[in-house]
Amino acid sequence: MCGIIGYVGQKKSLPILLTGLKRLEYRGYDSAGIAVLTEGGLMVAKSSGKIDRLIQEIGDNQDIDSTQGIAHTRWATHGEPTQLNAHPHTDAQGEIALVHNGIIENYRTLREFLRRNGYDTRTDTDTETLVQLIRYNYDGCLTEAVRNALNQVDGTYGIAVISSLHPGQIVVARMGSPLVIGHGEGENLVASDVSAMLDHTNRVVYLEDGEIATVTADSYEVTTIQNVKINHKVEEVTWTLDEIEKGGYDHFMLKEIHEQPTTLRNAIRGRLNHEEGIPRLNGLNLQYDELRNIKRILITACGTSFHAGLIGRYMIEELARLPVEVEYASEFRYRSPIIDENTIMLAISQSGETADTRAAMCEAKHRGATVLGLVNVVGSTIARETDGGVYLHAGPEIGVASTKAFTSQVMALSLVTCLLARMRHLSVQAGQEIIQAIENIPDQVEQLLQAGDQIKEIAAQYYRSNNCLYLGRGINYPAALEGALKLKEISYIHAEGYPAAEMKHGPIALIDENMPVVVIALKDAVYNKVMSNISEVQTRRGKVIAIATEGDTEIAERVNHVIYIPQTYRLLTPLLSIIPLQLLAYHIAVMRGCNVDQPRNLAKSVTVE
Ligand code: G6P
Repeated sequence: MCGIIGYVGQKKSLPILLTGLKRLEYRGYDSAGIAVLTEGGLMVAKSSGKIDRLIQEIGDNQDIDSTQGIAHTRWATHGEPTQLNAHPHTDAQGEIALVHNGIIENYRTLREFLRRNGYDTRTDTDTETLVQLIRYNYDGCLTEAVRNALNQVDGTYGIAVISSLHPGQIVVARMGSPLVIGHGEGENLVASDVSAMLDHTNRVVYLEDGEIATVTADSYEVTTIQNVKINHKVEEVTWTLDEIEKGGYDHFMLKEIHEQPTTLRNAIRGRLNHEEGIPRLNGLNLQYDELRNIKRILITACGTSFHAGLIGRYMIEELARLPVEVEYASEFRYRSPIIDENTIMLAISQSGETADTRAAMCEAKHRGATVLGLVNVVGSTIARETDGGVYLHAGPEIGVASTKAFTSQVMALSLVTCLLARMRHLSVQAGQEIIQAIENIPDQVEQLLQAGDQIKEIAAQYYRSNNCLYLGRGINYPAALEGALKLKEISYIHAEGYPAAEMKHGPIALIDENMPVVVIALKDAVYNKVMSNISEVQTRRGKVIAIATEGDTEIAERVNHVIYIPQTYRLLTPLLSIIPLQLLAYHIAVMRGCNVDQPRNLAKSVTVE
C-alpha cells in the first residue's frame, strides 16, 4: 500500500529519504512527500504523482542541512491524490509532522471532537485527524502524545512522527500496517518495508501490532501502547541490494520473469528427498501423525495468490484425496465458515501483509483451525502470525504484477501436496516420480524463457486489441485466470479467464475477428474437447493463440499461433504454461506504452481491507 521511510543520524537526510522513497514507490505511487527537520524548523514538500515530481518540487533544497526526516509514498484511500492530501500532514503550528499507512476508521468522530476543541482540518484525509489528535494530546513528550492519541483511534496504522519540539527523535507505531526499524552505525531508519533501507543496513527490528518505538540516532526504545517495555531481538535480512535493482533489465517485471529458474530452484533447495519420494518441509511444524490427521484444507488468498490456491486445490484433491476449499480472503472472513480442529487453513501471500488475508486467518484461528502460511517475505506479519509454513524464497518482488512469487507459490503447493499424499496412500515410486518432475521444472522454465522473441512477435499482432479471452481446463483453468489477470493489470486490456467448455455459455457472444483467444490446450485427457472449443472460436473468426505440448504438430495446423511448453507431470503443467502468458502480457503492455512495473491504481501490498 503506501510506503514510509524515516531517517535519523549524522548524514544529510533528504537524499537518503528520496532514495528510500524510490525503492518504496512500487507500494503506492499516486503522490508523495517529505518532512525534514532543519535549524529553522520542519521543512515539508509534497506533490501529486510520482517521486520524480516530488524531486522536482524540492529542487535545489535537496542539499539542505538536515539529519532527520520522514517521507511517504501514497496510495489514496481517503481524499484524492492531490498535493494537499499527500503526506506528511502537520499540525496547525507546523511543529509536528506525520506519515501514515492504513485507515483511521473513526476519523469523522475524531474530527468533530477536534473541531469542537478548536482544531480545524484542511485536507480530506483521515491522517490529518491523527496529527491534530497528537497535537491535542501533546504535553511535553512526543511519545506520550502519540500513545494517548492512538488510544483514541480505531483502525489500522503504521506511522512515523517527527517534531521540531523534539529534534533527534522519530516516533513510530504499528497496528495492522508493517513498520520496521533499521539499526545502523550512529544512525537508525524506520520503514514500512526493509527494501527501503537496504542501502544502509540489513539489521532490523520488526514492530508488532500495538507497539510504539522512540527512535534516535543511536537508540530505539519499544513499548506497547499500554506502556509496557518490550525487548525485540535484532534480525538480519538476507535480501541484497542487487535483488532490488533492475540489473540491466528494462523493467522489474521482466527481470522477475527471467529470475524464475533461480527462484524455483530456491523454492525446492534442500527440500527434496529423492530416495523416499517425500519433500522435507520442517517449517510446517507438523509431525507426520498430525499431517495424517488433517481432514480438510481451506486455502485463502487474494489476487494472484488466490490463483495459486486454485491450482493447489487440483493438486491436493487429486493426489492427497483431501477436500479443499479455496476462497478469497475478503469473502471468507465475512461468512460463518465451518471449521473444526481437523481443518487446516493455508494462507498464501507474497507480501505477507495483505489485510484481507490476515483477517481471514484471524477468523480461522478463532474457530480453532491451525493456520499455515505460504509466504515470500521473511519476517512479514502473516509469516509471524501463522503456526508454521513454507517460505517461498523468491527474493523481493518489486513489479506490482506478481510473477516469480506466483510460480514459487505453485511450487510450494506441489511440495505440500506431495507430502500430504505420501502421508496417505501415494506410493514411494509415485512420490519419487513427482519429486523428479519437480526438480526438472527450473530447467524447463529456463528453456521456455528462450522463446521470448516468438512471444514478442505475437504481442506485436495483438497489442491494439480491446479484449482478450483466456481459456483452460482442469488445473490449467486457474492458469488461464492468472494469464488474464496479468494482461488486464498491466496493459488495461479487458481480459477474462474462463474454463474452456464454459465459453459457450456466454463469452462466445464476444468473439469476432478482433478477439484474440489464448487457449491452454495440452495433450491430456481433455485435449480433444479443448480442440472442439478452439474450432468454436475459429468458426466465429476469433484468433487463437495456443499453449501446447511440445511435439503436438497437429495443433500447429489448426490455430493462428502456437507456443510449445515441455512435457512434465500433468499436475505441474501450470508452472510452465504460465511463463508464456506472463511474457505475452509484458510485451503487450510495453508496446502499449504502459508503466509495466507500476500499473495505474494498483498497489503491491494491500494493507487495507
Ligand atoms: C495486490 C497485488 C497482487 C497480489 C495481491 C495479493 O493486489 O497487486 O499482485 O497478488 O495483492 O497479495 P499477496 O502479497 O497477499 O500475495
